[in-house]
Amino acid sequence: MVGPALAAGRSNTKVSGALRARNSYVSFDSESTLRHTVPAGLNRRELEVYSRLERARLPQHIAIIMDGNGRWARRRHLPRVAGHRAGVASVRSTVETAARIGIPALTLYAFSEENWKKRPRSEVDFLMRLLCRYLKAEVRTLNDNNIRLEYIGRKHELPEQVQCEMEMARQATQENSGMVLTLALNYSARSEIVDAFRSLAEAAARNGGLSHLKIDEQMIGEHLYTRDLPDPDLVIRTSGEMRLSNFLLWQLAYAEIYVTQTLWPDFRGVQLLEGIEEYQKRERRYGGLGGDHEHAPARALAEAKH
Ligand code: FPP
Repeated sequence: MVGPALAAGRSNTKVSGALRARNSYVSFDSESTLRHTVPAGLNRRELEVYSRLERARLPQHIAIIMDGNGRWARRRHLPRVAGHRAGVASVRSTVETAARIGIPALTLYAFSEENWKKRPRSEVDFLMRLLCRYLKAEVRTLNDNNIRLEYIGRKHELPEQVQCEMEMARQATQENSGMVLTLALNYSARSEIVDAFRSLAEAAARNGGLSHLKIDEQMIGEHLYTRDLPDPDLVIRTSGEMRLSNFLLWQLAYAEIYVTQTLWPDFRGVQLLEGIEEYQKRERRYGGLGGDHEHAPARALAEAKH
């Protein structure tokens, strides 16, 4: 189930004519220079894109496949890990902007299960250290922005020290009522589905056996790692690749896909807003005809009656 903070969106304080808390909104009356109520903390380029957005139609959950760190580093004749290090600033900017504009949920694909198996040990170790440093350093920013940190993925397979840091950061932010930031770590969508099936079978065993098991979409959703999140409305992939790479395969069934050529270390809040702008231009049809056609069956029926 979606928590009240998610269902209702963020409850940012409105303040007139002054920048107060980092996520508060600033409103100016029609006589003053600014005509709109805008979230505090956005820079000029972000404000420009934000002013074109329809605030009532912001995605409730955005998922991002952060890609292109290695290519960013190679173009600068740097080791791959320099790209990962630079990617942390992109994480910070994206998370802050998403929270500032009132996105209820943001999920970042940080490390896939496959990353562990297919990358050199030294790179994996570096990513682990980077994650621990990020978790230690960012708790304060997360709290300042009222962000609650969560994780998806097979956490128990990660090094113990990393699990420890993850749990400390999670606990330090658990009282926050704003955006839920979910890091996908050692995550694989197929493994998630396997784990959901196992969990379903175990639940059935505890409740009278398989014959009592009622399987439907809602039931499967309740056994996924994302059981407390709405399905993403928008998935963003950086660096131009047209793949989902085993990310949230069940949950992305109706998501709008936005692929940008920008490499992850060059991605910032403004690029997030551009992705949202593109999302708002799309017509979401959920298998229907959309637009004018949506009423066509009813119209045909009415005409047939005449
Ligand atoms: C993909 O780029 C990126 C990763 C596998 C790691 C993502 C990690 C970060 C963005 C930094 C740390 C994140 C957190 C949450 C602290 P790639 O290496 O596959 O790039 P390439 O396709 O250009 O080689």
